[in-house]
Amino acid sequence: MTAIKVENLSYSYPDGSQALRGVSLEVVRGETLGLLGPNGAGKSTLLLHLNGTLRGDGIVEILGEKLTGKNLDQIRRRVGLVFEDPNDQLFMPTVFDDIAFGLLNLGREESVVRRLVQETLSAVGMADHEAHAPHRLSLGQKKRVALATVLAMDCTILALDEPTGGLDPAGRENFIELIKAQPLTKIIATHDMDLAWQLCDRVAIIDQGRVSALGPSAELLADAQLLRAHQLRCPLGIDILSHKSMVNL
Ligand SMILES: Nc1ncnc2c1ncn2[C@@H]1O[C@H](COP(=O)(O)OP(=O)(O)OP(=O)(O)O)[C@@H](O)[C@H]1O
Ligand SMILES: [Mg+2]
Repeated sequence: MTAIKVENLSYSYPDGSQALRGVSLEVVRGETLGLLGPNGAGKSTLLLHLNGTLRGDGIVEILGEKLTGKNLDQIRRRVGLVFEDPNDQLFMPTVFDDIAFGLLNLGREESVVRRLVQETLSAVGMADHEAHAPHRLSLGQKKRVALATVLAMDCTILALDEPTGGLDPAGRENFIELIKAQPLTKIIATHDMDLAWQLCDRVAIIDQGRVSALGPSAELLADAQLLRAHQLRCPLGIDILSHKSMVNL
């Protein structure tokens, strides 16, 4: 089943900058798709279309349902969008309030909300932080809480923008493991080529608002020439593999 279908999507910001120029792609249910590409390619803009934060020309279909003005609430529950900067996601006085916010808006009972907040915080390794002020947390902790805000809503699709940006090496590895552990369809915009290698079944290379290439990670992430043409590089894992095979020759 197709989880995400984007067809001929174009978008210009109000100032006239054209960010997407006829993007088409599909993500199969359960799959992880990486969005790679240079700065300004349109990756974040594309993610913002998946839950209707931005509305461009073209078609966005989530779990077989075309996104329209009418089903926006329903689609937003399906697609959990985690922003690059957790400060854009967390705006309440406490961690508890930030995670409870969406659930209370859905009219869930207080006791259920309390349980879901606890469960989700435990799942992201942030139990005991319920009463803390989000703005006092470290970036790694904020990223975990931001992820928890969408997991608590029981989303089907996780859309992550630069999930490992700014994390220290150990925090990065832990966060990658946490993302990997979520049994959801995922679409991940990233400059972290090693993350793409570790997590993504397929990758799309986006450049100047277009899909320049789309295919299995094992194929595209090994194509040094293609990656260089889009200001990208092979993941370390593949570099080591190719180095080893050269040594073996
Ligand atoms: N709010 C905005 N107003 C006007 N133009 C914008 C806005 N946000 C992004 N753009 C422009 O849209 C284009 C695509 O930007 P976008 O942020 O989607 O790229 P990106 O691939 O996510 O880049 P990065 O790798 O730096 O995160 C760029 O030309 C950018 O300058
Ligand atoms: Mg971006």
